Amino acid sequence: MKTGLKIFAFAILVSLFYSYVGQTVPQKITYPPESAELGADMSATELAAAGEEIVGGKGTCLGCHTIGSHSESLRFPDLGGIGAAAATRVEGQDDVTYLAESLYEPNKFIVEGFLGGMPVINKPPIGLSDDEIKAVIAYLQSLGGTPTVTLATDLGYTTAEQATASPAQAAASGASTGPALDGPGVFAAYGCAACHNILTADRGVGPSLHDTGSRMTKPEIYEAIVDPDAIVAEGYPAGVMGATLSASGFYQKVSTEELKALVDYLADQKGG
Ligand code: HEC
Ligand code: HEC
Repeated sequence: MKTGLKIFAFAILVSLFYSYVGQTVPQKITYPPESAELGADMSATELAAAGEEIVGGKGTCLGCHTIGSHSESLRFPDLGGIGAAAATRVEGQDDVTYLAESLYEPNKFIVEGFLGGMPVINKPPIGLSDDEIKAVIAYLQSLGGTPTVTLATDLGYTTAEQATASPAQAAASGASTGPALDGPGVFAAYGCAACHNILTADRGVGPSLHDTGSRMTKPEIYEAIVDPDAIVAEGYPAGVMGATLSASGFYQKVSTEELKALVDYLADQKGG
């Protein structure tokens, strides 16, 4: 009964939030088809073209990254020229090895000048397949270099099969598309750390969350996540968090159970 009510309240908040975002966020948020058609006989160039669609669609990469922006104050690395830069990032790693690691184990190497927080791309919520990741890498190579990756390339990573439900089914049942994540898992998977410090008091794009539990009640934390613009923390931009989390599919994919674990985790952060 209580859970039923919570799911109901959550559904209402989410739909209110969507109509709100729909009115206020100028950029177009599109929900592309679940998977691109990838054929074993595709050349590296054809694969790169499919990868471009995944990067702009299912991969949600452009919710964080730009391609070819020269702004000085970027919060995420610009991916223009990454096809050439990838071979120079880590001593002894060629471009393909570096790009594969960036997607499967993003926190192994953090690009200088940036905070961590890039989500693991083959895990929920983004959850690209190994073939889709090859297409993405071929596309990244094409940005400043020449694509060489095809579906026959061995990247050295394999993703275990996961039971998947369609996002619509998942939203209807309040269940996530992958195994349930715990609080720190949700925080990492949805890129919260890209904007929030949780271990230190340092300000990021958003306020530090290291002392959330001593400043905010659980309902306040819940509201700050589900409807970030209802109350905007003083001195911080409105709209950014909601737009980024919508683009990454957070509001569609997070389950009530995971949301509760996330709120509990933040409520446990008492600073000090
Ligand atoms: C929630 C924000 C977010 C999303 C979504 C995201 N990234 Fe990232 N990405 C980051 C951050 C932060 C970094 C820098 C920290 C690091 O190196 O791990 C980064 C780093 C990278 C790098 C290394 C760049 C360099 O200059 O060496 C690549 C390549 C990359 N991302 C590709 C992608 C691709 C492809 C996708 C989509 C499949 C994606 N990212 C989705 C936040 C994100
Ligand atoms: C793109 C940057 C960005 C991302 C990603 C992001 N946030 Fe935020 N967040 C902000 C900004 C900016 C604020 C302050 C403005 C506001 O209150 O809406 C904020 C505010 C908050 C607050 C209220 C803090 C306070 O002191 O009032 C909480 C709690 C929070 N975020 C949690 C999260 C969680 C959990 C995630 C991941 C699911 C997340 N945020 C992802 C930028 C982000």
